Amino acid sequence: MRRGILSLLAVGVLAAGGLAACTENVAGTGGRPRIGVILPDSKSSARWETADRKYLAAAFKAAGVDYEIQNAQNDKSAFTTLAEQMITQGVDVLMIVNLDSGTGKAVLDKARNAGVATIDYDRLTLGGSARYYVSFDNTAVGTLQGQGLVRCLADAKITKPVIAELNGSQTDNNSTLFKDGYDGVLAPKFASGEYVKGPDQWIEEWDNTRAGTTFEQMLTSQPNIGGVIAANDGLANAAINVLKKQGLNGRIPVTGQDATAQGLQNILNGDQCMTVYKDVRREAAAAAKLAINLARHETGVTDNKVYDPLGKRYVDSILLDPKAITRDNVRDVIDDGYVAAQDVCTAEFAAKCAAAGIK
Ligand code: BGC
Repeated sequence: MRRGILSLLAVGVLAAGGLAACTENVAGTGGRPRIGVILPDSKSSARWETADRKYLAAAFKAAGVDYEIQNAQNDKSAFTTLAEQMITQGVDVLMIVNLDSGTGKAVLDKARNAGVATIDYDRLTLGGSARYYVSFDNTAVGTLQGQGLVRCLADAKITKPVIAELNGSQTDNNSTLFKDGYDGVLAPKFASGEYVKGPDQWIEEWDNTRAGTTFEQMLTSQPNIGGVIAANDGLANAAINVLKKQGLNGRIPVTGQDATAQGLQNILNGDQCMTVYKDVRREAAAAAKLAINLARHETGVTDNKVYDPLGKRYVDSILLDPKAITRDNVRDVIDDGYVAAQDVCTAEFAAKCAAAGIK
């Protein structure tokens, strides 16, 4: 009954053009499960549009469910409106990547009150009410970043480096977990005096431009920075651009995350020390499977429980393993089909790709 009335409403919304953009398979057909997904933005990382959208759509298509994938473009009120529209249209499941826990929670609660099942995708909504959480082991991501930096500093024989940190957005729970991971590796080095603790800042909204300005200020106030933890490839690229202006690129190791084409190029150039490859195909497939189970009122299989300290509850979760990528194994990401060789091996990179065994 709910479905019938809401489907009519949905047709009205669609006719008005409300959700026409970026929408596939919206119209529910004859009681088929329907799933709505909201991605966060398309600037903080290439992954959301180049990987997550593609792999989620593929998984839903393969399962024959109706779905709709929208992107909030870093706009919290658009995020809320999109969620409300999906709920009104009668989705069975709502999957979100929150822009912050506050707006995420409001949307999850609205969905719950409307009888819509929910999944936190990639980012846990602190204090939220999602039924499931699917992500990578984000502390492990940070540990790989810390270990990668340590290895690059040793390879470059940099002694007593001052370490700068460009953390992700403080409103993203993942940023805290990444930081826990790399700080866990670096803290003993600071304590022993092997490394020196340098500037350490959150980059609001993972904004790459802001990261560039922040890093410029860091380097001005501490010109002897010897290593940079950048929480993802976008922040890394911002730092590398600043280092380039001083002719310091390639001499100061910079970490990253997401194995983006740009990150892989920066690695091949020797400007970036490492990235973290998270196979989003597996993340999307796992989340899609749980969503389909929820839509069919079946229980999903999870193998983990993640504690939400704000909500004081354990959330049934799936956490996948990340993998460190350096110049030695850039080709693994391409051989895996995650990034296309042609996106990395442009004319300028042809020789470097060949040297790295990338065809
Ligand atoms: C994701 C990262 C991404 C970042 C910025 C995080 O929550 O886990 O993969 O780089 O957001 O979009």
